[in-house]
Amino acid sequence: MASSRGGRERWKSRIGMILAAAGNAVGIGNLLRFPGQAAANGGGAFMIPYFVSLLVLGLPMMWIAWTIGRFGGRHHHGTTPGMFDSMIRRPYAKYLGVLGLAVPMVFILFYTYIEAWCLAYAWFSWRGSYLSTPGRTVDLNLFFNEFTGMAPTHNYFAGPELAALFFLITVFANMFVLYRGVNRGLEWVGKIAMPLLFLFGLVLAFKVLTLPAMKGSVAEGLNFLYNPDFSLLLTPTVWLAAAGQIFFTLSIGMGTMETYASYLRPDDDVALNGLTTASLNEFIEVIFGSAIAIPAAVVFFGLAAVPEIAASGSFNIGMVSMAEIMRGLGAEHWFGTIWFLLLFLAAFTSSVAVAQPALAFLEDEAGLSRQSASGVLLIFWVLGTLPVILLFRYGALAELDFWSGTLGLVFFAAIESILFAWVFGIERGWKELMHGAQLRVPRVFRFVMKWVTPFVLVAVLGFWFLDAIMTNSLAPTPTLHWGVEGRAALPGDFAHLRPAEDSPAGERLATLEETVRRAVSAERRDLAGWAVIELAPGASPKVVEWTGDPTLIEIAPAAWVEEWVGLQSFDYTPPPGAPVAPLRVTVAFEARYRALAIWITRWVALGYVAIFTILIHSIWSERRRLREESGRESA
Ligand code: PHE
Repeated sequence: MASSRGGRERWKSRIGMILAAAGNAVGIGNLLRFPGQAAANGGGAFMIPYFVSLLVLGLPMMWIAWTIGRFGGRHHHGTTPGMFDSMIRRPYAKYLGVLGLAVPMVFILFYTYIEAWCLAYAWFSWRGSYLSTPGRTVDLNLFFNEFTGMAPTHNYFAGPELAALFFLITVFANMFVLYRGVNRGLEWVGKIAMPLLFLFGLVLAFKVLTLPAMKGSVAEGLNFLYNPDFSLLLTPTVWLAAAGQIFFTLSIGMGTMETYASYLRPDDDVALNGLTTASLNEFIEVIFGSAIAIPAAVVFFGLAAVPEIAASGSFNIGMVSMAEIMRGLGAEHWFGTIWFLLLFLAAFTSSVAVAQPALAFLEDEAGLSRQSASGVLLIFWVLGTLPVILLFRYGALAELDFWSGTLGLVFFAAIESILFAWVFGIERGWKELMHGAQLRVPRVFRFVMKWVTPFVLVAVLGFWFLDAIMTNSLAPTPTLHWGVEGRAALPGDFAHLRPAEDSPAGERLATLEETVRRAVSAERRDLAGWAVIELAPGASPKVVEWTGDPTLIEIAPAAWVEEWVGLQSFDYTPPPGAPVAPLRVTVAFEARYRALAIWITRWVALGYVAIFTILIHSIWSERRRLREESGRESA
């Protein structure tokens, strides 16, 4: 048997353990994803399904995870294949645990990349990199899109090289902590990072809550989040979003809490620890998650703009809107840096947790030394992230986020809850949970764990599945992008005016977009074009030149492009004093063929599932062989 099996590390102090577990849960999900989801799903309307999900899905799954984890640790297993195996003792059990390794391994590939952006933006804030000066305008949206390589232009960055560099720094920082182990790594970083995170959160919440009213007021922002709108309670997507948020934020259905709990001693409590972890997470989510980004956006952009900002994605709230707010307040140097460091710290204590299952597996089950295990992990981490960085412009990150961060964790939680309540049995499961418990968990949760949680999860999965089939949302469609070349040299702002979906102009535009998409799909490659546009105050923008891929030029006449550009996004106001003469700008268009990139990304994710399945299979076969051999010898 592998020598490392007997010598597993244990948490040294309770406070260190709790801070590490809270660090696991508290992440980007709390500070960006929560406000984004809440604002996009009706503000106060979101909070009711959110708290219901916390009670019937979040807390029960949290306790199940801690119980399974401690049980596994008692049997020298730090990851779900071994844990399920020792609980169920059936040959299939270990394979059900594969997702408890593959889902976090896939999750980490994009999560650390986002973490790296936060670090980069802390650096940009400190340096004032995104301040506009007389010679250099910084459009924060374009700045972000060029930083990640999403935009077709190169005003501020040539490509995602700098982002990749920050990713490497982030991975090495993670590996440093992971390599130091449970006590000197995870526990140590939790004890430093969590209090710091709390302090940063307080500073920012104080700053935002004391902002004077501008386009909106702080009170309006808070009201938006906390005034329940009962009419949205019948919308299934609001419930799905709320349940998804609870899973994501509590780090449930990933195998990471199980791994953390495996470092408990056999008689340590799990009931109170589980509740404390969830409570700390919810505290930070509900307080800091709603006191910072949304009220700041309401103050700065006005209440009406917030749902639109939220719908444009969590990253836009964090990297574009918050940066713009900080810059607008002249507060980017200190408060901007603190905001991005807050995000980075929160992400960091989560990413080490997400990496821990793979590391624990290589040590506990494959019998590798810490050095070798870390080396293997590092290689698979960096290699796996390459497609995320290089194919980001095709939506690779969102794709992995969907499979691991949205579907994967609910899917694995469903497996876990059924195993726990129905195969292991709620009788034994409840006894396990109560063993050493310093908290009497109300008995209704026993009922919930058996009759509510598993069924709700299966129903949610079924709903998703049907929805995906009906809307055919799994088929990658081409996307259209544009950006202004030489934007940095152009002073002033563009207002983004989207025509209403049902206006005739909006319809024509949609038809054009559809035509271009179809052409891209037929050609199976990207199509690019460049339009020189003349902007004159008081007149609508005119295309004076339109070149590029012949296919694109043929199907999209300049007049259409004009309409596209003019209607969709350009309302240019030059700043006072800037030249009024007609301005010429080049707009770069790209219609991107995504299918290839998306399938590569999906195969990478599947590859991790395959690798872990094969590893599990061969490790267990080897064990059986050894057992049989020693049985024959002693006979
Ligand atoms: N809970 C983390 C967050 O809120 C993300 C995470 C999910 C971490 C699953 C570990 C496991 O950002």
